[in-house]
Amino acid sequence: MIFAELWRELESLGRDPGTGGYRRYSWTAADAQCRAWFTRQADNLGLAVEPDHNGNLWAWWGRRRPGAVVTGSHLDSVPDGGGYDGALGVASALAAVAELKDKNFDPERAVAIAVMTEEEGARFRVPCLGSRLMTGAVDPETARGLTDDDGVTLAEAMTAAGADASLLGPDEDLLADIGVFVELHVEQGRALAPLGAAVGIAKGIWPHGRWRLDFGGRADHAGTARLADRKDPMLPYARTVLAARRAAADSGGLATIGKVIAEPGGANGVSSAVTAWLDARAPDEDRLEKTVTTVRSASMRYSAECGVTLSVRQESYTPPVHFDQGLRDRIDGVLAAAGIAAPVLPTGAGHDAGILAARIPTAMLFVRNPTGVSHSPAEHADLADCEAGVRALALILEDLAGRR
Ligand code: GLV
Ligand code: MN
Ligand code: MN
Repeated sequence: MIFAELWRELESLGRDPGTGGYRRYSWTAADAQCRAWFTRQADNLGLAVEPDHNGNLWAWWGRRRPGAVVTGSHLDSVPDGGGYDGALGVASALAAVAELKDKNFDPERAVAIAVMTEEEGARFRVPCLGSRLMTGAVDPETARGLTDDDGVTLAEAMTAAGADASLLGPDEDLLADIGVFVELHVEQGRALAPLGAAVGIAKGIWPHGRWRLDFGGRADHAGTARLADRKDPMLPYARTVLAARRAAADSGGLATIGKVIAEPGGANGVSSAVTAWLDARAPDEDRLEKTVTTVRSASMRYSAECGVTLSVRQESYTPPVHFDQGLRDRIDGVLAAAGIAAPVLPTGAGHDAGILAARIPTAMLFVRNPTGVSHSPAEHADLADCEAGVRALALILEDLAGRR
């Protein structure tokens, strides 16, 4: 089947040979390889690939016009990410279009495949940056100034990759042409396996966000500075990690500190500064706010006790998402008619579909992940389930795009 062929070509791009994880950061060489792969595959299918003003790619089947049925996902990854997160949605979209073309389906509405940029926020720290820019949820000037860990701005990275950052910003014309957006994604969690289902339908996305915590201390000698005299930012940071875990458990949400930078990074010195990122998510905004407020106040208290300064800044926020009920019911009906039972699932993971949902009727399909592990090289989906996902997506596109 075409999916396996598409997948084989994509599989090695941006993969670290040591860890087996993917490092497909936006506007890097690996990202360019993934974009070239997509353009080649879309070309082979006779689709016209157009970049938009925000670094996203669009492959059109038929002339771009209002009412388009759009599918797709992203090709960027988290550090040492799995191969399926995002990529499965793009490869499945290409395979679904190939399947429809094979059976000479002639869509009444335009169909497009989108590859959204910087979905993970792994390089510039704002997730779903491509869809946020497109919908006006992020100010373009702010976006141009976002920096990566080496201090390179988004504008500089785009320019180096041959893209024009001066054009970033809301794209009302493109939004007006999209009638519906359906994103297929690997399941991130393990709900489908116990239900014996290969595919599921998303109900909604938990509210979530990222907060940057800067702890400022004083560099000192590990072998001579008396414990009582130190201003060690590592201490309030370490206690904050535990406070986050406790706050999440108490509120029924999730809180994670997965990234930390200690400066200057000497093994025989007290750090001068520690920067950590808190990722917090919860079933509703009240519980999310409670979690973050609890962590912030604990962290402030610990910092004061250690003579350390603390500043906390929100870097991104996504309110709760409820996917379009009518579209969900329609998809459920299409799949049920084909004998596919697709359970409806909530998720704590963010997606471009969640950002676009504010402007367009949007839905998501999940493909079973037998272990539930994601954002890890261990992420997996069986080939048979990927193929079931392609089949489900093709049925949905066929229904939504209508036969001429
Ligand atoms: C996207 O994968 C997220 O962090 O939810
Ligand atoms: Mn992800
Ligand atoms: Mn994803």
